[in-house]
Amino acid sequence: MDVDKKDSIASDSSDQVVNPWEVSAKDGGKIDYDKLIDQFGCQRLDASLIDRVQRLTSRQPHVFLRRGVFFAHRDFNEVLDAYERGDKFYLYTGRGPSSEALHLGHLIPFMFTKYLQEAFKVPLVIQLTDDEKCMWKNLSVEESQRLARENAKDIIACGFDVTKTFIFSDFDYVGGAFYKNMVKVAKCVTLNKAMGIFGFSGEDHIGKLSFPPVQACLSVPAVPSFPSSFPHLFPGKDKLRCLIPCAIDQDPYFRMTRDVAPRLGYSKPALIESSFFPALQAKNGKMSASDPNSAIYVTDTAKEIKNKINRYAFSGGQDSIEKHREIGANLEVDIPVKYLSFFLDDDTELEHIKKEYGEGRMLTGEVKKRLTEVLTEMVERHRMARAAVTDEMVDAFMAVRPLPSMFE
Ligand code: TYM
Ligand code: TRP
Repeated sequence: MDVDKKDSIASDSSDQVVNPWEVSAKDGGKIDYDKLIDQFGCQRLDASLIDRVQRLTSRQPHVFLRRGVFFAHRDFNEVLDAYERGDKFYLYTGRGPSSEALHLGHLIPFMFTKYLQEAFKVPLVIQLTDDEKCMWKNLSVEESQRLARENAKDIIACGFDVTKTFIFSDFDYVGGAFYKNMVKVAKCVTLNKAMGIFGFSGEDHIGKLSFPPVQACLSVPAVPSFPSSFPHLFPGKDKLRCLIPCAIDQDPYFRMTRDVAPRLGYSKPALIESSFFPALQAKNGKMSASDPNSAIYVTDTAKEIKNKINRYAFSGGQDSIEKHREIGANLEVDIPVKYLSFFLDDDTELEHIKKEYGEGRMLTGEVKKRLTEVLTEMVERHRMARAAVTDEMVDAFMAVRPLPSMFE
């Protein structure tokens, strides 16, 4: 059975909507990820696959794998099969530069991709869809391009290896081989298909669908999945497999890509997909840039981080100390514990906090204090790394050039 043929509609079951533009759920914004796997027709990332990653890379799996942050995949097992036989792959991820500063949720795919690049020793392409955001967020061309370069600095600060990484902006790079693949993809996607996959309906205004550059924007994230789009990197390597790390909101793009790939004689890209880093208030499914009080940005000061956590982070602790001591915190709904499970590396400490807090011996204030330390340290580290990124470094990452040692 070809699971992709399920073609699930991003917005059909009205109780949760997950697509590149909207993530929402009834029931207090809690996304049902099991249901999403079923709806989208992807596969669960199980323990045996994580063990395999450990064996193949001879290192401890990333905390995002150990804790199930990356929880779903498509054909990741096939990529590992090939890797085991000595066939490498390349990584592809991206960012739509819609805001000046990234929030912590945005860092997740990049931190994880950096680990994959190091662990598997493979090349990486990073697409900055400045055209997408120009179109959907109504930014000017110039402003989108400026934001793309600013965002590139934050991405570079995550520690990518310039000898294995090509970052490109659509406005600069689209043309040539890339554009040919865009047109090939666009010709394979009917309006009905786009409506099904992206959850458009007959009620959407025609600008969203029929304006030709917008159609191009729908096919633009597909094209870096094909090695022939990068003749300076992968000449004669048309069979090289592509693995895409992203949050599951991007799945519709790649469902479409996987649907058209065989018709173009290309391999389907494989995917490894994460759940969402939630908003401080635990509503709206994911941390989103649009509400500053719901998100922690990589540019926030130590004081801002502390205030946001203390004031807004939804607590599963009880209303009174007596009650808390008696029944303990509800860890299921507690944001500080959730955030620590993403960013506190130490498994033993995390288990300790969960036990003490869950049984009422630790109070919310203490957990929030520990979270504040962890996030402040991480954001501070990021700030220093970003400050060291020069314009010349951005140019170096974005230069159209071969990467001779990309598999070493
Ligand atoms: P963008 O800029 O909206 O998001 C960039 C990446 O961050 C992920 N993400 C999150 N992950 C966890 N928790 C969150 N709260 C959260 N918010 C965002 C997104 O899933 C994404 O991986 N169309 C894309 C750009 C793009 C792309 C790609 C992304 C083009 N090609 C290939 C991934 C892979 C976009 O606008 O992403
Ligand atoms: N890349 C380094 C690391 O993984 C440091 C770093 C840069 C970092 N930016 C970051 C870490 C953002 C966490 C978040 O250790």
